[in-house]
Amino acid sequence: MNILAIDTSCDETSVSVVNDDVILSNIIASQISYHKIYGGVVPSLAKRIHEDVIDNVINEALKKAKKNIKDIDLIAVTKGPGLALALETGLNRAKKLSIENNISVIGINHMIGHIYAVFAKNRNGKRIFNKDIEFPILSLLVSGGHTELVILKNYFEFEKIGETRDDAVGEAFDKSARVLGLGYPGGKILSDMAENYTKIIPLTIPMQYSKDFDFSYSGLKSDFQRKFNEYRLNNKVTSEDISNFSKSFELVAIEELLIKTLKAVDEFKPKSIIVGGGVSANRYLRSELRKRIRSKYTENPIPVYFPYTSHLSMDNAAMIGVVGYYLVEKKKITLPIFDYSEREPNLEL
Ligand code: KG4
Ligand code: ZN
Repeated sequence: MNILAIDTSCDETSVSVVNDDVILSNIIASQISYHKIYGGVVPSLAKRIHEDVIDNVINEALKKAKKNIKDIDLIAVTKGPGLALALETGLNRAKKLSIENNISVIGINHMIGHIYAVFAKNRNGKRIFNKDIEFPILSLLVSGGHTELVILKNYFEFEKIGETRDDAVGEAFDKSARVLGLGYPGGKILSDMAENYTKIIPLTIPMQYSKDFDFSYSGLKSDFQRKFNEYRLNNKVTSEDISNFSKSFELVAIEELLIKTLKAVDEFKPKSIIVGGGVSANRYLRSELRKRIRSKYTENPIPVYFPYTSHLSMDNAAMIGVVGYYLVEKKKITLPIFDYSEREPNLEL
């Protein structure tokens, strides 16, 4: 089955062609350079740019996959969660292509996409796990808008067990990066700066003693800002200082994720762990989660799966196409299906 997938949930216009779960193309047109000067995503600007570039991105994705629109069996399009104005562009284009070419269409939840990013295969049929993945799966979803722990009892049986009570972890990374003058979106820049640290500034780990699986990041963000501003008043800030503040923030922000994830492993005894969303590209999170699982479960460590590449961690359409494939396969959906979904900016799992 050839699937054309579209994601315009935020500030990336992404279109992909997948053949079942094999990625043939995954084009991501980033709008970062436009939003940078505003220090964050401006929804009306995001919509305008999606509208301007989407046809070119669709053509590029088809061309790279060596496919024609007539070869496409299904269009998978993100219906939410995301920015209402931005989602609209993808949904409208999917509907137009469907009507003009009589192609099936199905609306997809963007967060399920972040879970399914690890299911994607490259052109050689390789993916991150060799055999079939074992359920139940614990999924840690960490992006600019979400911080969630989800149990998958089966392919499409989700139970959210915890989420952030305020800011998302990626948002806290970006805001702290801005405090340090590192630009937007600063999550990756801050984590790169953190590599050269020489000293740690103590910060409190939020929610470490809470009995649930929830997260909180707004207190950490304020604490960090206050400590940096105090330091700046009395010192000339050097690049070494920026590295030290970056590492101090990263350690604590990631520690909160590790504490709650390990607590959920204890409680729910998953057979596999999947991490998804932009923050899953974080190197410290990747190495530390694996390390702690291995040292805690020495006999039989639970496999931890992160997306293959940073492209599959961030917003991309290939993950949406892979969900489309699994929905049809596992839910035994018969085509044609014409699911002209409305946008759902606050769509839950
Ligand atoms: O999933 P994503 O691309 O978009 C949303 O759906 O939000 O996630 C973007 C978020 C941003 O907040 C970005 O700063 C963060 O992921 N991010 C990182 C890293 N790479 C991206 N945060 C920490 N470390 C990274 N290496
Ligand atoms: Zn996302």
